[in-house]
Amino acid sequence: MPVITAPHAFNESQLYVDLEPIFGRSLYLKCEGFNFAGSIKLKAAIEMVETAERDGVLKPDSILVESSSGNLGVALSIIAASKGYRFLCVTDSRCNLSTRLLMEALGSQVHIVADLDANGGFLGARIDYVRELCASDDRYVWLGQYTNPGNWRAHYRTTAPEIAEEFPELDVLFIGAGTTGTLMGCARYFREWHRPVRIVAVDSVGSVAFGGKPGRRMIPGLGMSMRPPLLDESFVDEVIRVEEADTIRACHRLARRGFLFGGSTGTVVSGAMDWLSRHDTRGLTAVGIAPDLGERYLDTIYQSNWLEALYGDELLLDEEEITKDPRGGEPRSRASRRRPDA
Ligand SMILES: Cc1ncc(COP(=O)(O)O)c(C=O)c1O
Repeated sequence: MPVITAPHAFNESQLYVDLEPIFGRSLYLKCEGFNFAGSIKLKAAIEMVETAERDGVLKPDSILVESSSGNLGVALSIIAASKGYRFLCVTDSRCNLSTRLLMEALGSQVHIVADLDANGGFLGARIDYVRELCASDDRYVWLGQYTNPGNWRAHYRTTAPEIAEEFPELDVLFIGAGTTGTLMGCARYFREWHRPVRIVAVDSVGSVAFGGKPGRRMIPGLGMSMRPPLLDESFVDEVIRVEEADTIRACHRLARRGFLFGGSTGTVVSGAMDWLSRHDTRGLTAVGIAPDLGERYLDTIYQSNWLEALYGDELLLDEEEITKDPRGGEPRSRASRRRPDA
């Protein structure tokens, strides 16, 4: 029975969902949303804060400041509240309302940047704001998740060994890329492992993380509007890019089977299923990482008005056709669902 006194002391690290019954291909999805921060970013937050404490950078009167699309902000809010620091999260208008309210409920301050930068993202504007703040008052401490080695080290120390322990025969690992902390920590760990593991980075179309044209991205978490400073592509075997429409279809397909995951999980699952469909998967052990759960996205990814306004009303029609009867029947159409007695 785990008994804790600090909110960041608990993290479920052994839970996997086998997606074979839902997608027809085996992929073990490592669920990282079961902790008090609700996401994988708790790991990076702990590592970065505790390193800053050890290095004497964080002092009792320090004010933590960080640019985050939400999940790191929530994780830092929890740690700051528990340890007695003040915390200011600099985010942008893509941050979900519920995430913002959550940070405020935990006692943090939230600043929302509304101006797009030259790459069509908000990141440059968010970072400029943080820099100005730090220059104006030396109580501000910016952990800098985009450059802080603690971000990847957290996953080298925890996420990767957790997977290695459960899957000694692992062949391929699918990892969504935002700051690339998760990607680089896992990739570095498995490079040193007893057998080769194919490291597949999953990015969103419109992200410039691995090159490519900038474009509209509405789902927070994955993708970057600049090249991630932590990224070292020599550790990455392959990059796959996923359209947001496919991300949303994957999220809804999972939700219709009772698994409500966040947007980046939809991206990882969609990219992984596409990859698996193009390879010989006999005897292959494949794992993907699900960074968070879906409740934070009820007013976006799981809200029909939001979806229709951005992607049109055809987006989920195919998905409705594909959704199988959980009792094992044939695919059900929209019409047959509307009239269950038909
Ligand atoms: C939901 C979600 N998915 C994926 C990521 C990407 O993880 P990383 O920054 O380690 O690349 C993040 C990062 O904030 C996230 O919040």
